[in-house]
Amino acid sequence: MKDTKVLCFANNKGGSGKTTTCSNIGYGLASLGKRVLMIDGDMQLNLSLSLFPEDQVLAMAGQDRNLYMAMKKQEALTDYIVHTPYENLDLIPSSTLMSGIEYELFTKWQREYILKKALKPVTESGIYDYILIDAPPTLGGWVINILCASHELIIPVEASPWGLFGLANMFEFLEEVKEMTPQLSLLGVVITKVDTRKNYFRQTLETLHQMKEVPVFDHYIRVDSSIEWAQDNSQPVIAYKKSSRSAKEYMELVKEVEQKCR
Ligand SMILES: Nc1ncnc2c1ncn2[C@@H]1O[C@H](COP(=O)(O)OP(=O)(O)OP(=O)(O)O)[C@@H](O)[C@H]1O
Ligand SMILES: [Mg+2]
Repeated sequence: MKDTKVLCFANNKGGSGKTTTCSNIGYGLASLGKRVLMIDGDMQLNLSLSLFPEDQVLAMAGQDRNLYMAMKKQEALTDYIVHTPYENLDLIPSSTLMSGIEYELFTKWQREYILKKALKPVTESGIYDYILIDAPPTLGGWVINILCASHELIIPVEASPWGLFGLANMFEFLEEVKEMTPQLSLLGVVITKVDTRKNYFRQTLETLHQMKEVPVFDHYIRVDSSIEWAQDNSQPVIAYKKSSRSAKEYMELVKEVEQKCR
């Protein structure tokens, strides 16, 4: 039985490409024959919306088989898995009630490890090669749970001045969380929404490369309207339009992620 790798996508900066990257890396790994479970950890339901139409996402969010209910009841996530329309790709859907997750965690014993414990039966079953968790744009007790449940962190960063500003907070937070979960490592920073015509992209790259201890993925993702059309169609862009520029870039990133996880 092979070990399951748990990767999470986090950055307190909103709109940095976390969900788009999580969804496409998950779909891309599944398309290469890997068995993948994705966990929607955000009340915005965006990861769920990248795989299912809105009415189905809202139905899942309103029933008791979603992440919020599993966390509230402290149950194993094994019973909360939903098959997606895609081969090798499953999902644990989110709920808008995740807005109250910090309150739910507050009263619980060992509250940083609720998600890790709920995930343990799934990882130990060995049915998945990868579990990918999409985090919300916050840095609180819930994101600590996500980091404590993960082996590797991927930080999507938008090539913009404020994108880099947010990154400093993220690194400080990460240093503190690492004391709680020494197994966690930073797989890399991936630069998203790149406009290669703008000089700021080069400045972003330079600034990141100056941070010697920060691994940066070789592949980056350029701005591409196909991403928005894919999301409008409730699909990852690789599934929606394999020939698009972003789909090809995401497939290259998938291979890089896979190599770095070996
Ligand atoms: N490469 C890209 N080209 C064009 N648009 C993109 C690209 N990547 C992401 N977007 C768009 O940018 C917005 C933010 O992306 P996404 O939702 O993935 O970020 P996020 O970090 O998950 O946001 P949040 O912090 O709200 O969870 C979305 O509207 C998405 O369609
Ligand atoms: Mg998101």
